Amino acid sequence: MTYTHIAAVDAGNGGVNSVLTRLQDDKFQTPQADYFPSVRAVVRGKSLGLGASQELQYTPVEWHSQKYIIGDDVTRITKQGLDRFIGKDRYGSEFHQFLVAVALARLGVGGKGEANVYLSLFCPPGYFADQRETIKQAFMGKSVSIQYGDKLYQFRYGNVAVIPEGQAALFCFNLNQDGSPNEKNPLYGDVLFLDSGVYTLDAVLVSDGKVNPQQTASYSDKGIDFFIRKPLMQAAHESSREFEGVTEDDIDVLIRQYAQAQDDQGRWEACNLYHGGYTVDLFSVMQRQIAEYTKWINNNVLARYDGLRGIRHVVLVGGGASLITPLMIEMYPDKVKNSSEPPHYAAGRIAPVNMNAYGGLRVAIAKVRT
Ligand SMILES: Nc1ncnc2c1ncn2[C@@H]1O[C@H](COP(=O)(O)OP(=O)(O)OP(=O)(O)O)[C@@H](O)[C@H]1O
Ligand SMILES: [Mg+2]
Repeated sequence: MTYTHIAAVDAGNGGVNSVLTRLQDDKFQTPQADYFPSVRAVVRGKSLGLGASQELQYTPVEWHSQKYIIGDDVTRITKQGLDRFIGKDRYGSEFHQFLVAVALARLGVGGKGEANVYLSLFCPPGYFADQRETIKQAFMGKSVSIQYGDKLYQFRYGNVAVIPEGQAALFCFNLNQDGSPNEKNPLYGDVLFLDSGVYTLDAVLVSDGKVNPQQTASYSDKGIDFFIRKPLMQAAHESSREFEGVTEDDIDVLIRQYAQAQDDQGRWEACNLYHGGYTVDLFSVMQRQIAEYTKWINNNVLARYDGLRGIRHVVLVGGGASLITPLMIEMYPDKVKNSSEPPHYAAGRIAPVNMNAYGGLRVAIAKVRT
């Protein structure tokens, strides 16, 4: 079977991280990555009734004869009727299928005739045994058509692989970009992967390249939402009545700007929340909450690994990684490094938030190659 595209789509509670490589003349093209918040809202009738200028500012999605807006379009345009990708039964669901299809359309898959896709999907380690087959069955062999903006995208899931989250990041080190084994894998001995997502924090101990299930744990509601997003939202609400309408989604945009800022000035600017013509400075709350989150992880997660004794490296993965890395480096300078330093650079300077998706892509490339 010949695949035209290989894709990995990590549809998390908070966001959909996806990476794609096209196969051209038997070569894998440089991967493209995308991210959007995993939220949607149904559009009823022909328009949202916002007036022409607003209507132009969103990309409509048509799926199973229903029109939706997704991701940051939802955040900007409506606060009602939001559908969030949360809960245990979501894997393989219609919503899951929707998010994967949107991710592929955003990456341009199947815009010029039906594409045959090799797809990697993810699931939390705790649900893996239970859900793996369900997820596979929901996608395998299906033909999909979805309208994104004014264009139709059509693809077929020729093969589907399911990989546990957290662990997927490991493949960024075990495998090279072309899927071949990385002979110089720097992650030998004991390495701790910490995946800090929107709701879940996963700690996965890897010994000589293999996951150690006894030393792997999932912490619910110990992610960015609990430690950063909610406290910032509450601080905004309490600052004055003008900010009562601020939601988690508004704060999420701010967090992403903060995480991607290049310097202190940029980080401070990101923390100025504009809402309805008013501004509130949330910089000190952000600093306090990042410190609190890091401290909690140290006391409650790292403590279970004997304060990291015997562990050679800690690899921080997920959206939370970009926030806690500087403080973790201060605490454990020998074990925690920036993604541009060894041993992380061996993986190819992949942003922590994309690591699961890139790992899943490399596994898929390895399978397609053989
Ligand atoms: N560069 C970034 N791109 C996207 N999100 C980022 C970035 N930096 C920080 N974030 C934050 O990280 C969150 C997304 O993280 P991630 O994709 O790891 O969560 P998730 O996998 O959806 O959640 P969970 O693991 O709980 O299911 C966003 O909500 C955002 O606040
Ligand atoms: Mg995640």
